[in-house]
Amino acid sequence: MQTMEAIEGRRSIRSFREEPVEDDKLRQLLQAATLAPSGKNAQPWRFVVLKGEKKDELVRIMQEEVSRLKEQGLAVGSAENSADVMLQAPALIVVLNERWSADEDPIGTNRYGWSVDLQSIGAAIQNMLLTAEALELGTLWICDVFFADCPIRRWLQTDRELVAAVAVGYKNEEPNARPRLSVDEVTEWK
Ligand SMILES: Cc1cc2nc3c(=O)[nH]c(=O)nc-3n(C[C@H](O)[C@H](O)[C@H](O)COP(=O)(O)O)c2cc1C
Repeated sequence: MQTMEAIEGRRSIRSFREEPVEDDKLRQLLQAATLAPSGKNAQPWRFVVLKGEKKDELVRIMQEEVSRLKEQGLAVGSAENSADVMLQAPALIVVLNERWSADEDPIGTNRYGWSVDLQSIGAAIQNMLLTAEALELGTLWICDVFFADCPIRRWLQTDRELVAAVAVGYKNEEPNARPRLSVDEVTEWK
């Protein structure tokens, strides 16, 4: 598949078939992620692959935390829906930032260094998404895991910064392309 085909064909997928994803395909996604560029080639990304009971355990932890927040009257946005997608997806790749601990204040410490690392990790995630598209897999990039940041890191036994999770599976929907601003709306030529 050509790069533009993957870029244009990719969608956020929120409905997956039950069929498991082969480990070698998950490995191809991770391999693509590790080929992303990174500031000073620091490769700050780290991944945890969860399937089956382990994945469901993490989702339960997220659901419990989201329910707790709701009971306190806090807005939880799309977190419940995202947790449903995570439960349904046969595989989940949790993405961590190896260079930052969750307890550090990145703005106070080194705002630019933190930004460089996060941009690098974003590139790695996008490589995974495009590779998945080329392998006819669907993905959902999920930041709603932040609603359960502490409990998830405790469960993973890590103090590294939680960046995102990527749900992966065979697509059970073919959504239309979501709207985008045009190039002219987002670009100034000087
Ligand atoms: C950084 C980031 C975080 C996202 N977090 C979530 C999420 O937590 N839950 C969700 O359903 N979608 C999430 N999405 C998917 C976006 O909603 C989606 O990319 C956007 O609506 C455009 O749709 P498309 O991906 O099909 O083009 C996220 C996307 C990005 C890039």
